[in-house]
Amino acid sequence: MYVSATFVALWIVGWLYRDKLEIENVTEKYVFITGCDSGFGNLLCRKLDGKGFRVLAACLTEKGADDLKRVSGPHLKTVLLNVTCQDSIQKAMEWTKKEVGDKGLWGIVNNAGYSLPMGPSEWMKVEDFHKTLNVNLNGVIAMTVTFLPLVKRARGRIVNVASVLGRVAANGGGYCISKFAVEAFSDCLRSSLHHKRQRDTTRCVFTALLLFIICSVLLSVRRDIHYFGVNVCIIEPGFFKTAVTSLDPIEKELYRLWDQLSPEVQASYGDKYLDKYIKIQRLIMNGICDSDLAKVTNCMEHALTAAYPRTRYSAGWDAKLLWIPLSYMPACVVDIGLKLVMPRPSKSV
Ligand SMILES: *[C@@H]1O[C@H](CO)[C@@H](O)[C@H](O)[C@H]1NC(C)=O
Ligand SMILES: *[C@@H]1O[C@H](CO)[C@@H](O)[C@H](O)[C@H]1NC(C)=O
Repeated sequence: MYVSATFVALWIVGWLYRDKLEIENVTEKYVFITGCDSGFGNLLCRKLDGKGFRVLAACLTEKGADDLKRVSGPHLKTVLLNVTCQDSIQKAMEWTKKEVGDKGLWGIVNNAGYSLPMGPSEWMKVEDFHKTLNVNLNGVIAMTVTFLPLVKRARGRIVNVASVLGRVAANGGGYCISKFAVEAFSDCLRSSLHHKRQRDTTRCVFTALLLFIICSVLLSVRRDIHYFGVNVCIIEPGFFKTAVTSLDPIEKELYRLWDQLSPEVQASYGDKYLDKYIKIQRLIMNGICDSDLAKVTNCMEHALTAAYPRTRYSAGWDAKLLWIPLSYMPACVVDIGLKLVMPRPSKSV
């Protein structure tokens, strides 16, 4: 009893200590970030730039790039990038290769994301899924595969932005699907690039204790298994006020989806359904969305600067207290929750 309590206490102290250790020489390290026009990417650029990192900021629009340059230091460089276009990715990679030289790329942050349309899956056409999947999933895969040689050279970090909606499927359309897929892609990637244990905060104490003992034994015989030393980290933000959760475009898309439904399908939902759906969505988004984006960028910074980055970072109170705990519960709990909150189609059986 006392022995295990001591082990647990030691493990916690050791964990906290390791968690605080930072890398050195950030001024010589290059980090490439996608989706820097606004939101998390934009804030992360400014923060890393302030810390002295060499930031390579990829923006979708000229305006986004110009605005970012105006508020950042002389070391930050921008490049135009459309992650759904392989030509564009290839060009950005060639440019990056020249910029970083033989130092390689310390970090790539796959942050660019797109959420529209979101809504009941039955309302979507195949193309509606593809739009989101192209950016959030195929974009992340293409970026990672193309930039991996540069990251491998620096023994750097790959930071993929998933979402709590990559843990709990609470919304129809391509968004949740893409984020679940990013979780899987990142996990596969990690096991092929980094065999050393990366930490996961959500593991229960007993697993941790067991791992602690196993790892101590492994470390003590200095059998530090290491494939390429590339860490892969997953960021799981809760709901934050960004372009992804912006209500106007989401509602505009919902009207468009509704209008493309056949009269029979519309009748099965009833003519009040859309209004109720939109009202509830507004209530939830306005109640839950956090405007402190730094909660997310702090996680990204930790992933890039900690000597021992974590495997998963959940950002925001809704993530920690609602979504992540929900993700460990049986599917019926989520189903009941959604049923209580969402409106009922008029011809439901
Ligand atoms: C940091 O840079 C200094 C000087 O360039 C070098 O001597 C040192 O080895 C570097 N440290 C790491 C951890 O790369
Ligand atoms: C990005 O590339 C795709 C595919 O080439 C294209 O359809 C889309 O319009 C581009 N987006 C922007 C904003 O340039």
